[in-house]
Amino acid sequence: MTTPFSSNKPLLSALHGQSQWPRPAWFMRQAGRYLPEYRALRAEAGGFLDLCDNPDFATEVTLQPIRRYDFDGSILFSDILTIPRALGQDLAFAAGEGPVLGALPELQIMADRLASGEAFSVLSPAYTAVSQIRAALPNTTTLIGFAGAPWTLATYMIEGGSSKAYAATKAMAYGDPPRFKALIDLLVRSVAQHLVAQIKAGADAVMVFDSWAGSLDRDAQLAWSADPLERIVRLVRDEAADTPIIVFPRKAMFAARALAGIDPLVSLQVDYANDLHAAARLDFAAVQGNLDPGRLLCGRDEVVQATRDVLSVVDHQRSHVFNLGHGIFKESDPDAVHWVLDAVRADG
Ligand code: CP3
Repeated sequence: MTTPFSSNKPLLSALHGQSQWPRPAWFMRQAGRYLPEYRALRAEAGGFLDLCDNPDFATEVTLQPIRRYDFDGSILFSDILTIPRALGQDLAFAAGEGPVLGALPELQIMADRLASGEAFSVLSPAYTAVSQIRAALPNTTTLIGFAGAPWTLATYMIEGGSSKAYAATKAMAYGDPPRFKALIDLLVRSVAQHLVAQIKAGADAVMVFDSWAGSLDRDAQLAWSADPLERIVRLVRDEAADTPIIVFPRKAMFAARALAGIDPLVSLQVDYANDLHAAARLDFAAVQGNLDPGRLLCGRDEVVQATRDVLSVVDHQRSHVFNLGHGIFKESDPDAVHWVLDAVRADG
């Protein structure tokens, strides 16, 4: 006989499919530049990667938004690009320019780094941070670990940074499928191992960001977004039987539909350009989303109204985690987060 899941963490219960009242809430990029305390600590640390590489800094930055807002979820402060770096690709964040990656290492060299455990020793500050955060969090707060999805990671690794058209990545995916598949397969294994290590260090749930899945056509969404995500879910499940997994195939509804029903503890993050109402009808433990972060850039009345509009889309029987549809803007007024959360918590 199975015992029903029971937890004093509302977000964790929601990710187990149990609709919660009021709805649990957290924000993508809730730790970051819109917070003065983040900007101060970043200046002290030197740069963004110095924050990620120092477990004490990463712990402190992760906890900043929890102290200020008491979000139901806390997400490890790190970045998706720590995996390419752990596999041996150079990574820097040039001021105001976003990520800059070095040449793509030979696949065999990256595979060797993964097999030897060298890659994971580079990632160890993140695991130390997870256990420190777990120890410091209120026992009602759910701790979320994360990684980038293979397609999104591959775009950064092949383009050498952010991109608009992903021309080099698509040229490899469609022009040299065996080579591209070998890279995706390596990333599937790397991502799954990184997520499992975060779970072992104390993460309650994990999330996989496929931020650029929406750049793909239907067939490619299935091949390069949904299929790798499904394989990651299976690999994590082998090691962590009851850890919720949130997938975020951003702007990619073909991939989202393909992921419905693959596992009872998979939830869907919905971007703001997508149909939250329709997403809530798919077979996922919970849906998460999807307020446009741009809606926070106005006055209190407009912010509250925009929040209520999102709340009204998902009915009370369905497990809904309130979140933005993408990361909060650095221009946001820190008070606007209070306005949103007050509206979510007052929702009756
Ligand atoms: O959400 C959180 O609070 C946790 C931390 C987190 C960061 N990045 C910190 C960060 C998470 C979950 C990410 C994921 C991430 N990183 C994604 C997927 C999510 C998404 O936004 O779609 C992507 C695509 C990246 C890659 C990345 N990291 C880019 C393109 C940039 C530069 C653009 C930017 O916003 O500056 C980053 C830097 C980054 N990652 C910052 C933060 C707080 C800003 C660093 C700074 O200058 O202080």
